[in-house]
Amino acid sequence: MPEEKLGVAVIGLHMGQAHFLAAIEHPNAELVALCDTDEGLLDARAAEYNVPVATTDWRDLLDRPDIDIASICTPDHFHREMTCAFLDAGKHVIVEKPMARTVEECEEMIAAARRNDRKLMVAQVCRFYSFFEDAKRWSEDGTLGEVYYVETSYLHNYEEIGGVGNWRFDPEKRHPLVGGGCHAIDLARWICGDAEEVHAYGNHYNIPQQQWEDLITINVKFKSGAVGRILNSSGCQRPYNIDLQVWGTKGTLVGDNTQDYALLSLREVNRHIWLRLPKPPMAKAVASELAHFIDCVLHDRQPLIDGVDGAKTVALAWAAIESMRTGQPVKCRNDF
Ligand SMILES: NC(=O)c1ccc[n+]([C@@H]2O[C@H](COP(=O)([O-])OP(=O)(O)OC[C@H]3O[C@@H](n4cnc5c(N)ncnc54)[C@H](O)[C@@H]3O)[C@@H](O)[C@H]2O)c1
Repeated sequence: MPEEKLGVAVIGLHMGQAHFLAAIEHPNAELVALCDTDEGLLDARAAEYNVPVATTDWRDLLDRPDIDIASICTPDHFHREMTCAFLDAGKHVIVEKPMARTVEECEEMIAAARRNDRKLMVAQVCRFYSFFEDAKRWSEDGTLGEVYYVETSYLHNYEEIGGVGNWRFDPEKRHPLVGGGCHAIDLARWICGDAEEVHAYGNHYNIPQQQWEDLITINVKFKSGAVGRILNSSGCQRPYNIDLQVWGTKGTLVGDNTQDYALLSLREVNRHIWLRLPKPPMAKAVASELAHFIDCVLHDRQPLIDGVDGAKTVALAWAAIESMRTGQPVKCRNDF
């Protein structure tokens, strides 16, 4: 049975480019509108992809009946206001990670989704990379046994990628642990569930234009009994990657999002050796992410990363920031 097409608007056309290309390719999506305050970029993209509506003011899109989904890909400090406005206008919203800058902003977004009965998804794209999907499945189907330790890292030097107007270096607009570290936090939470408590340390050796710590290491105690370590560097003198280790009672898995292989050691095979697993490239993760959200809207399903999940990740980051400030372990909030 042919299904309806959902009208999609994409706001913010840097990261948003991957979102609008995914919308163009999806059989149940119609790319209706593009929005960016950079008029030259907006006009070029609208002409190139023949998009009917192009505006520099996102508010122009709120009342359009041909828009079902707003994809919000603007800098972090716009996420709350835009998400709440589109939800209040009756649209479903997929918002780029991090969900928002603070726990309070996340709470407002969750409330807007609830009062309007609309879908809200946070675009934590790692959950759509095949290696991370395998890690999740093998953590749950018994392959790795009981998971008792997880390690994740988000290592990315931001020196040359402050964003338009260098918003990433404005301490009011982004904390690097919330904005970038959310990738590693979300992965750890996805594998091990809700966190109970964190204890974090950080330092600042590399990026003078960033006013926060550029290296942060977090010890985490999960409610499941597992423990973990989350590492975030926004100033590292090394290549970018997001990596993951999952340690279980039957085996251990090690891999990242940039190599074409992962390592698996299984007790029942031989725990003294690593098995080298070939891994497909990570391309198409954003397309899978949008396809998942479209499926959730069409079939009234819960998004894999809903507002509550997005908020728990932001809350863990702020618990870690508080721990760095006080030198004490801090409880994580999960009641959203
Ligand atoms: N999933 C990922 O791996 C990933 C990667 C990069 C960025 N992101 C997220 O995407 C978001 C945007 O990041 P970016 O790298 O594209 O930033 P950027 O600064 O490079 O680009 C932001 C774009 O938004 C536009 N913009 C700014 N304010 C606007 C407004 N009020 N209305 C309309 N357009 C506006 C700018 O003109 C620019 O084109 C951030 O939240 C970031 O965390 C996610």
